[in-house]
Amino acid sequence: MAAKREKNLDQTGSTALRFSFDSALAGKDLVRWYRKNARPLPWRVLFATHKDPYHVWISEIMLQQTVIKAVLPAYERFLKAYPTVNLLAKTDEETLRLVVRGLGYYRRFGFLLKAARTIVTDYKGKMPVTFDEWKALPGIGDYTAAAISSIAFGEDAAVVDGNVERVFCRLLDIRLPPNLPRLKKEFKILAASMIYKSDPGSFNQGLMELGQTVCTVSQPSCPSCPLKKVCLAFERQSQHLAPAPKIKKNMQDLSMRLHAFRKGGKIGLVRRPADARFLGGTRGFFTEVLVENKRYRTDGTLVLTPGKSGKRQPLGSVKHHITHHKIEAQVFVNQTVNQTDMKSGCLIEWLPFDQVEENLVSNLDRKAWRLIENTL
Ligand code: ADE
Repeated sequence: MAAKREKNLDQTGSTALRFSFDSALAGKDLVRWYRKNARPLPWRVLFATHKDPYHVWISEIMLQQTVIKAVLPAYERFLKAYPTVNLLAKTDEETLRLVVRGLGYYRRFGFLLKAARTIVTDYKGKMPVTFDEWKALPGIGDYTAAAISSIAFGEDAAVVDGNVERVFCRLLDIRLPPNLPRLKKEFKILAASMIYKSDPGSFNQGLMELGQTVCTVSQPSCPSCPLKKVCLAFERQSQHLAPAPKIKKNMQDLSMRLHAFRKGGKIGLVRRPADARFLGGTRGFFTEVLVENKRYRTDGTLVLTPGKSGKRQPLGSVKHHITHHKIEAQVFVNQTVNQTDMKSGCLIEWLPFDQVEENLVSNLDRKAWRLIENTL
């Protein structure tokens, strides 16, 4: 029998969500499906082989707000650079950022480094075990603590991410935005009622996997879904109505100019000041931000003027999102740099073309570099 929902969860309705289906049995079916269908993602294979929670922890930090495809190359680089927590704890933040280049949300890696040092000093290098211990570490919230403690230690802590929210909306035919704040608590209760206590890690990963591979946004593959028997949206054929589109965060448009300096076979990068509004502390292309719709201003405290850049045509432009900003950046290549300004303390580091990519952390710079590289 399909899941039944007793409350009418419209925009004004009361929040208590009740469902009448055998949720524990559905959880068990899901785990059975996951065991047969799990993709052999590197962190899964490593954990199955070595049972080392370190591999799970690193993957869960990288997967925060980041798609699997982007995580794969960074995860491999990371484990090569830092195969153990002791080696991770000894690195510095700049080196770490280069290792995880391209992933975005770099604050999480500052927290990761702090957490690694805490594990080395307070836990003598042994991984924490419980949800509460993980949660107490820097940069680890409920979601990540539940994912690590369930996958690596079998704690029955449920994980609800964006994919799981969509699965739940379909399961109960909830035609609301899946990220509506008041649904959060309801989904936690539902997940806790379904969790397969003998293997919570497989249950959690199974739900995420189902959302990523079967119960997808636009064309769910319902015939191969292990929950189709209990799915209300499947019974009603309302998969395209449940859930409604997500609530989008407000994004502000922002124009920038990125300047690469070129001297023969080398490209000049600058270090953005730590207090720059965007990408503080990263190495990248000299950056100007459009202020008050008329003037470009250097971002942060850098003082440097690229030779006559304003009057020249850009090479092209790149688009990129940083947290709440939708950036469009014009890209310039400058053959000269104003000498007086160079004396004022802005250090340009000259790198051969083939070393530029590995020195760029942000995808904004990396997209600009791809554009420039095509013209060299
Ligand atoms: N997203 C977050 N954690 C994940 C995991 N363990 N497997 C797949 N996707 C995930």
